[in-house]
Amino acid sequence: MTTLDDLTLSRRDLLIAGAASAAATVPASAGAQARGPGAPVFANVTLEVNGTARTLQVDTRTTLLDALREHLHLTGTKKGCDQGQCGACTVLVNGRRTVSCLSLAVMHQGAKVTTIEGLGTPKSLHPMQAAFIKHDGYQCGYCTPGQICSAVGVLDEIRRGVPSHGAADITAQPLISAAELRERMSGNICRCGAYANILDAIGEVAGVRS
Ligand code: FES
Ligand code: FES
Repeated sequence: MTTLDDLTLSRRDLLIAGAASAAATVPASAGAQARGPGAPVFANVTLEVNGTARTLQVDTRTTLLDALREHLHLTGTKKGCDQGQCGACTVLVNGRRTVSCLSLAVMHQGAKVTTIEGLGTPKSLHPMQAAFIKHDGYQCGYCTPGQICSAVGVLDEIRRGVPSHGAADITAQPLISAAELRERMSGNICRCGAYANILDAIGEVAGVRS
């Protein structure tokens, strides 16, 4: 006959049972591999980067920025602060601007990622790239890939009617103005202070005088 003592589990037994159960719930489809408590967990993620499907096996803590730079060697995307403050790492994810240092690669399974390398080529520049060159919208150039990706995202946001933080009426269709562009680009820092020329470049593509 089973006694109460037979049913009593020690704390250690419970912890072991819990860990085994958690390991069993890791989804096989995500390709995740757990290697024990505290060890890195790796997972497969497939991204469409600049029009090409790329499958990577990454530590699940890998940022999208590091996946692009360290795994795919797309070093056009820059690491400035690595904490979401400078905008140097901005890329487009499904057309929306994203600070890639604050986003994990595994969050973007199946997403379309566009980096500065995918916007245009030296022989066929994106209009925003051409405008930055025409208006001298850079000095050292470190912030420039993020500025350009962000600017492309900004004009698309305005076209889609996405309000900015400066909007007096968030239900109104935003207008493209120099003030609006300044507000929307305020997350992209340029330590060289090329702001006036950056604004001229974006203004030209947007069709407004800055
Ligand atoms: Fe991502 Fe600065 S490197 S915001
Ligand atoms: Fe040097 Fe912007 S051009 S930081």
